[in-house]
Amino acid sequence: MDEYLVKNADEIPTPALLVYKEAVAHNIKTIGEMMGGYERLRPHIKTHKMAQVAKMEMAAGIDKFKCATPKEAAMLAALGAADILISYHMVGANIGRVVDLKKSYPALDLKVIADDANNIQALSDACVQADLILGVMLDLNTGMDRTGAPVGEPAVVLATQIHDAPGLTFEGLHVYDGHVGNPDADQRKETALDSIGQAIETRRLIAESGVAVPKLVASGSPGFEHTRLVDEVDEVSPGTWIFWDTGYGDQLVDSPFRWAALVLSRVISTTQDDLMTLDAGSKSIAPDTPEPHFRGLGLPDNVTFVRRNEEHQLLRLPQGTPRPNVGDTFYLVPRHVCTTVNLWDDVYVIDENGQFVETWSVDARGH
Ligand SMILES: Cc1ncc(COP(=O)(O)O)c(C=O)c1O
Repeated sequence: MDEYLVKNADEIPTPALLVYKEAVAHNIKTIGEMMGGYERLRPHIKTHKMAQVAKMEMAAGIDKFKCATPKEAAMLAALGAADILISYHMVGANIGRVVDLKKSYPALDLKVIADDANNIQALSDACVQADLILGVMLDLNTGMDRTGAPVGEPAVVLATQIHDAPGLTFEGLHVYDGHVGNPDADQRKETALDSIGQAIETRRLIAESGVAVPKLVASGSPGFEHTRLVDEVDEVSPGTWIFWDTGYGDQLVDSPFRWAALVLSRVISTTQDDLMTLDAGSKSIAPDTPEPHFRGLGLPDNVTFVRRNEEHQLLRLPQGTPRPNVGDTFYLVPRHVCTTVNLWDDVYVIDENGQFVETWSVDARGH
């Protein structure tokens, strides 16, 4: 708790998203140690969406990135990132945005993912028309069942299509193992290795058919713990590790990552004895998880989450809990930090002495 107390918190209007620079630096250093350097790390920047955090990553030696939106890709390109994978399917008018980005940065190694024959054709047509070359990775479904070509023969067909399509280069396989999240460590390992095993086998089939598969990029924060140890995995792409949250932290209890983004909130009302209302509602902490959406440092464990509105969080305190005063501050750790960050235009940066020193903008907020 003490490590998160901000000495000059009275200068910060609430609600506010705080980013602890030292914790971010710790997480960057830690992942580098886990990975034996940054060569095989392609962090997903959708968690932070901030140029200042991307700069910290680049300063540490991270030179390739994953992102979800053209806006995030544009932010990275403007910072001088040389290798960007948009791990999201560019369809409709988004194809034009990617083409424009590539035109603006011809030397940029820009890649997108795809899993559909018509979409691959549309990407190829747009690139031919614009007279440029775009990298495409085949998105593979290894069990998450969200997107991705089925493993095996269907993937060979699509990989061949990308390889043969004018205007495109086939850059390999992309796997997001979002189904790897079991709180049981052994089961998590089993699911992660099963997922990556399917991708490795598919890579072998594609190569056997005569199409080289330059890269296999895989995994989020729970899966990379295991897939980073698999030689055939060229790069891992976790995102949440940079800020960490209770959603992952409560499951991956031995994780070395620290919470680095917390919401500072104040009590705005205590009109009934055991109730208190905080100024952090669903417009401050993302409500896209089951309740509770945050953990309040210093709040009793058995506090009841009574109601949540846009700008209000009503809590019932257990009997005997000292009554807080209006204006008291609480530090809230989000359950899902990625969607919480996207709610903010700016964050309040806290230095290693616990001082609020500057604000950073969430540059790539939105799409
Ligand atoms: C395609 C893709 N890759 C990587 C990640 C990063 O995963 P995590 O947030 O578990 O680190 C995500 C997360 O949503 C994702 O959708």
